[in-house]
Amino acid sequence: MAERKPLVAGNWKMNGRPADGLALARGVAERARAPHRCDLLVCPPFTLLAAVGEALSGSDVMLGGQDCHSAPSGAFTGCISAEMLKDAGCSHAIVGHSERRHTCGETDADVRAKTLAAWRAGLVAIVCVGETRAEREAGKAIEIVGAQLAGSLPDEASADQLVVAYEPVWAIGTGLTPTTADIAEIHAAIRRHLPDGTRILYGGSVNPKNAAEILALAEVDGALVGGASLKADDFWAIAQAA
Ligand code: 13P
Repeated sequence: MAERKPLVAGNWKMNGRPADGLALARGVAERARAPHRCDLLVCPPFTLLAAVGEALSGSDVMLGGQDCHSAPSGAFTGCISAEMLKDAGCSHAIVGHSERRHTCGETDADVRAKTLAAWRAGLVAIVCVGETRAEREAGKAIEIVGAQLAGSLPDEASADQLVVAYEPVWAIGTGLTPTTADIAEIHAAIRRHLPDGTRILYGGSVNPKNAAEILALAEVDGALVGGASLKADDFWAIAQAA
């Protein structure tokens, strides 16, 4: 089986003005000078991509966008293309985050088109999936996530262009996490949909206290971190747990 190097990715969401965003990026880059066994990625808001990219230069911390449009350019007010992310120095694009699926009405077909756009631009797509609380309580988590993967992943997926992030909607920003047994079970189920060697991240209330236990699971290849990625010390502590 292909080796899967852990990836710890910070999704800053709609946080970061120049002063704090740059301080955070510099803090991460500085800590990353110490030895680490995982890949590191930060995904700041679009407005900070260029400046954060500059702050990270000389470090091995990678830069990603939080979303992309499916078209390369055109009359799409307020949108950013995958090519624009690539131009700004990104290597990755998050697509299908639940906050976009739920607040912007993005469908699996939209996510699939965005994944193809990321690949067209030479980016790795981080495709997010996850069930709601009601779906978990109805015992449908694996079925829902399986359907999201079937609809969101292009047929031609390959492990070097794709990362999947399992983010249960009810765990995002709530301080709640599934049991490690539940995470292991659903990651194993997700893996059956993916090319060999594809990394599967867990996301949802990952913090320095719970990271070691979650990241120790054989089927967990890293973390997609929201709130805790806004503090360099916390993000670094999670990276060290990987
Ligand atoms: P939190 O870590 O804040 O729960 O957010 C997770 C997430 O949505 C990362 O994409």
